[in-house]
Amino acid sequence: MTVNVHTAAVRASGLSRRYGSTRALDEVDLSLDRGITGLLGPNGAGKTTLLSILATVNQPDAGSVSVFGLDPRDAAERVEIRRRLGYLPQELGYHRHFTVAGFLDYVAILKEITDRRRRAEEVARVMAAVSLENRARTRIRALSGGLRQRLGIAQALLGQPDLLILDEPTAGLDPEQRLRFRELLSDVPGDPVIVLSTHQADDIAAICPKVIVLLQGRVCFAGTPAKLAASAAGQVWAAAERDQKAHLSWRGADNLWRHIGDQPPDGAELVAPTVEDGYLLLSHATGAR
Ligand SMILES: Nc1ncnc2c1ncn2[C@@H]1O[C@H](COP(=O)(O)OP(=O)(O)O)[C@@H](O)[C@H]1O
Ligand SMILES: [Mg+2]
Repeated sequence: MTVNVHTAAVRASGLSRRYGSTRALDEVDLSLDRGITGLLGPNGAGKTTLLSILATVNQPDAGSVSVFGLDPRDAAERVEIRRRLGYLPQELGYHRHFTVAGFLDYVAILKEITDRRRRAEEVARVMAAVSLENRARTRIRALSGGLRQRLGIAQALLGQPDLLILDEPTAGLDPEQRLRFRELLSDVPGDPVIVLSTHQADDIAAICPKVIVLLQGRVCFAGTPAKLAASAAGQVWAAAERDQKAHLSWRGADNLWRHIGDQPPDGAELVAPTVEDGYLLLSHATGAR
C-alpha cells in the first residue's frame, strides 16, 4: 500500500525528542491513515514517546505533527485534536476506589459527554465492547491486571474517537483476552485512525494492515506486514544442526533448528519467513537487539 503523505489523516515530520543524553526519537517521519497501524519495536525504542506526542501530552524538541490538518502547537487546534482523541497511555493512573462504571462515567464527563442518558448509553456500550458489563460495580482496586487493561481500552473508546492511540494494549492480556481484543478492534465503529504499539510481532501479523517498525528512535520500516515478512525471504532456513553463522537460531517444536541470517549455506532448506523473522532481521541489522 502506498501512503500519500499529503492526504494522510495524521502526519509527523522530523520529530526528535531527547531526554538528557537519551535520543528517544530521531527525526521520525510517518503518516497514518484510517484503519489500524501497528507500531512495533523493542523496549526503549521510543514508542511511548512517539504516541504521547501524537496524543498531545508530550512535545517534540524538533519537527511537527498534523492531526486531521490540525497543529497541536496551536492552543485552539490542540483542544480540537483532544476532542477527537481516545488514548490508552502505557501507564494509566487509576483511582482505585472508583467502580468500573463510575470511572467510565467520570472519563465520559471529561470527554464532554454532558447529556446524562447519552453518557449512560456510551458507558454501557464501551463496557460491553470489552466484556466488562458484569463488573460495572466492581471497584478498580479489586480488578486483575488483565481486567484493568480492558477498562483502559474501554475508556479510550468513549465518545467514538477519530484517532485512537493505544500504547501496548495487549500487555497483560492472556491469549483468550488477546483474541477478544483483536475481535474488538476489527469492529470499532466510525472508521477511526487507530495506532497501537507492541513489541510482539504476532499482534501485528494478526490485526494490523500496516506496520511501522521503530528501532532506537528511528523508523526502520513502514509498509504491510507481508512486506516486512518478505524482507527476510531467503534468510530463514531450517537444519538438523545448529548453524553458527546465523544471527539467531532456536530449536523449533519439530526439533529442527530454525535460523535467521544473511547467508544461508548452499543447499539450505529455506523456510517461508514470518513477520517476526523480518522484524528480527531488521533489529539485528540496526544493532538494536
Ligand atoms: N521521562 C523520561 N525521562 C528520561 N528518559 C526517558 C523518559 N521517557 C523515556 N525515556 C527514555 O527514552 C527512550 C525511549 O523510551 P520510550 O519512549 O518509553 O520507549 P518504548 O515505549 O518503545 O519502550 C528510552 O531510552 C527511555 O529510557
Ligand atoms: Mg512504551
